[in-house]
Amino acid sequence: MRLHVRIAHSGLCSRRAAEKIILEGRVHVNGSVVNELGFKVTEDDEVAVDGRVITEAKKYTMLFHKPAGVVTTLNDPQGRPTIARYLPNYGVQLKPVGRLDMDTDGLLIVTNDGDLALRITHPRYGLEKEYQAIVEGIPEEREMDRLRRGVMIEGGKTAPAKAEYVFVDEKKMTTSIRITIHEGKKRQVRQMCDAIGHPVIRLTRLRIGPFFLRGLQPGECRLLGKVEMDQLRRMVGLD
Ligand code: URA
Repeated sequence: MRLHVRIAHSGLCSRRAAEKIILEGRVHVNGSVVNELGFKVTEDDEVAVDGRVITEAKKYTMLFHKPAGVVTTLNDPQGRPTIARYLPNYGVQLKPVGRLDMDTDGLLIVTNDGDLALRITHPRYGLEKEYQAIVEGIPEEREMDRLRRGVMIEGGKTAPAKAEYVFVDEKKMTTSIRITIHEGKKRQVRQMCDAIGHPVIRLTRLRIGPFFLRGLQPGECRLLGKVEMDQLRRMVGLD
């Protein structure tokens, strides 16, 4: 493993900040200063930053109910509200796995386990994501079928999906539908609904794989328990 990655894994800082710390000559490996980027270490090597030996950070994986109006990032250059204000401070870098649009609310996984995060988003493991969308108008069955078979959006044709009616509000002329996909194209559900001529008014992610939003208030998060973690790790081919 490269030295800057090992430092980042300790939870001390990001990989980029770790590179800076290395270049500043603040890192010792087995007692000798190393200020070379790309230097490789093994688990047996002792790494110290500013004279303090670092150890692998404990891993945390949480479910989070992202409220609407909040950006899925930890730091927004435009100064908009970010998810950072809702996450607990465990002294590690919790990062969102994938993203929800600013206007979308619902379930997001956050973790400091980079390998797990990569696998959750990898198309090979294709975790299902279920959304509730309130759309303009009342889609016809043939339009729902188009969602199921796949529609052309920016980024290509969407893979087969599930789409079901939940509720038609004839007064407001809106329809609530459930859409389940296992891809993660940009603004996918909104683009899919645009493609059939029924733009989304409100979008909520209800489920990722075996994990449900139910029980989490907007802005609330909870750690996954051991049984849930084992289940998740198995689903993405770890363990
Ligand atoms: N699809 C969207 O359009 N937006 C999201 O936030 C997630 C999926």
